[in-house]
Amino acid sequence: MIICKSKVELEKMHRAGLVVHELLEALRKMVAPGVTTLDLEREAERRIAEAGAVPAFKGYMNYPCVLCTSVNNEIVHGIPSERKLAAGDILSLDVGVSLDGYFADAAITVPVGEVKPELEKLLRVTQEALERAIEKTRLPNRLSDISAAIEEHVEAHGLTVVRDFVGHGIGTQLHEDPQLPNYGKPGHGPRLREGMVLAIEPMVNTGAAGVKILEDRWTAVTQDGGYSAHFEHCVAVTQNGPWVLTRP
Ligand code: MF3
Ligand code: CO
Repeated sequence: MIICKSKVELEKMHRAGLVVHELLEALRKMVAPGVTTLDLEREAERRIAEAGAVPAFKGYMNYPCVLCTSVNNEIVHGIPSERKLAAGDILSLDVGVSLDGYFADAAITVPVGEVKPELEKLLRVTQEALERAIEKTRLPNRLSDISAAIEEHVEAHGLTVVRDFVGHGIGTQLHEDPQLPNYGKPGHGPRLREGMVLAIEPMVNTGAAGVKILEDRWTAVTQDGGYSAHFEHCVAVTQNGPWVLTRP
């Protein structure tokens, strides 16, 4: 069942979203060669507490951390560790919090130092695909119009969409209905309605779309060792169009 939120609820989700946004911007500035993903985790944990929010991922299905930090060939759900970031890496930072009973969830992928043009393109196209998806998150569209916008943009640039993970509804739970694939034909699925909130999160690979899960049972990597990028925003459907709750 898809739960539509009232204006007051959306305002609460926006407050949670701003905590996530500010945290990701702070972490982005910390990213540099020699920094470990556990350094970022500690800073994130401190800032979430300081904001009076609750980490959404830590303890969720026994996930051990507040952040997911996915490097290079890691698609999502990388676990922070003593791994030092190196110039030329790309790093996905994914974080969720709840504040006053409402969740927000967002992700960015950032370059570590200078990265090769192929990776700059991967980051750009994935972020553009998310922006196009946001544009489709409006009345009277259907759910798969969002999915199709992502797939079309990514494939037009010779990159591939990961099919094993989806975006999701979000509200008083981190994961609510509906599931939102990052591929599909337009014009299918439920019609969008005022007050729906979707966490839209394209995951895009330079090589093939295939996924493999590591021994830690969390880290999802590309089967072929290619690079992967991930961007995510929570977006509300309003009479005035899409409202991105995870930015100012
Ligand atoms: N952005 C991801 C999600 O919503 C991260 C979940 S990580 C987990 O779905 F640890 F919470 F599972
Ligand atoms: Co999510």
